[in-house]
Amino acid sequence: MNSLIRQPGIGITGSDFVLRQKHATPFQPRSFLPSLSKEKKPKTCSLVSVQKSLHLASLCVGNSRRVDLVKCEAYDADKSEVENGGGGGTPSEAAKKAKIGLYFATWWALNVVFNIYNKKVLNAYPYPWITSTLSLACGSLMMLISWATRIAEAPKTDIEFWKSLFPVAVAHTIGHVAATVSMSKVAVSFTHIIKSSEPAFSVLVSRFLLGETFPSSVYLSIIPIIGGCALTAVTELNFNMIGFMGAMISNVAFVLRNIFSKRGMKGKSVSGMNYYACLSILSLAILTPFAIAVEGPQLWAAGWQTALSQVGPQFIWWVAAQSVFYHLYNQVSYMSLDEISPLTFSIGNTMKRISVIVSSIIIFHTPIQPINALGAGIAILGTFLYSQF
Ligand code: 3PG
Repeated sequence: MNSLIRQPGIGITGSDFVLRQKHATPFQPRSFLPSLSKEKKPKTCSLVSVQKSLHLASLCVGNSRRVDLVKCEAYDADKSEVENGGGGGTPSEAAKKAKIGLYFATWWALNVVFNIYNKKVLNAYPYPWITSTLSLACGSLMMLISWATRIAEAPKTDIEFWKSLFPVAVAHTIGHVAATVSMSKVAVSFTHIIKSSEPAFSVLVSRFLLGETFPSSVYLSIIPIIGGCALTAVTELNFNMIGFMGAMISNVAFVLRNIFSKRGMKGKSVSGMNYYACLSILSLAILTPFAIAVEGPQLWAAGWQTALSQVGPQFIWWVAAQSVFYHLYNQVSYMSLDEISPLTFSIGNTMKRISVIVSSIIIFHTPIQPINALGAGIAILGTFLYSQF
């Protein structure tokens, strides 16, 4: 589940890359690296977009889900001008709708391309730890270059920012590597069907770890999500326990990442694009030693030679494509988040998974039985139902 949070003092958007003039300050730092400042930034009212934060929005407000949803819906109301035309249906509203449509199409397309190249790489080079590391390294490098060339303004951070980012980065790292391990073991479609159950994990983590309560309609909506995923899992022709568990761990990790994000970003003024960039850099630092320990340069080098000899030079382009598209789809998803309501975003994310599932089944000729497809359909329908509550 994804959502946005409007909250004072936090600026998380994905659009400042494009609209950097909006955020530009007269002072240009000498270093392109994120500057460390001990100054406390004054709180300003700004937009926060946090991936998978429809549920998270609830965390900031209180213990009652219903009360929280009022907050969420208040934000929805703000954005309804964008989404519903504010009752006007003016040409500018039509242009906004067209822009959102373009964001969604771009986000899904980039994600589909990422998933295809990621799977092609993993088929030829079954080392998910280095593959995950390369994705983060590529995104980090792209952002460092953007800061160095002033395409994007480097964020001004303090030690508290990095401290609060740490648990987010740990969860992001686990979620990312677990999803990649999953996709190295099972079909892309299977991983994404299991990942479509993330809203159910959001509810369960909130209920059992945070003690939040939800209306019964919410609990009822997770029955088809879990039931559909279970049906898909038991009827999956190429079921693999590591692949299944990787997707499940990714679900839990991304839910926790969002909880930590919500808490960690409170009161900070780093924009969404730069927040995501810092997250990539810190995740890269966390993941690299584990990747070396789990797989290591010897396996990587031998596997690289094997992949090159089997696939040819285009293997290098596959690796580059999966790395670049990983960063780009995350970037555009944040740009979408900046423009739409949590509800619309969550539905968009589910639609994204449908795009990935269908395209990967077609491209990789994934064998699928009717009962297996039925399970996927039930799970995705459950996610839509969850979005309605
Ligand atoms: C990853 O590698 O981080 C996952 O593929 C992310 O998947 P998602 O953005 O669709 O949740």
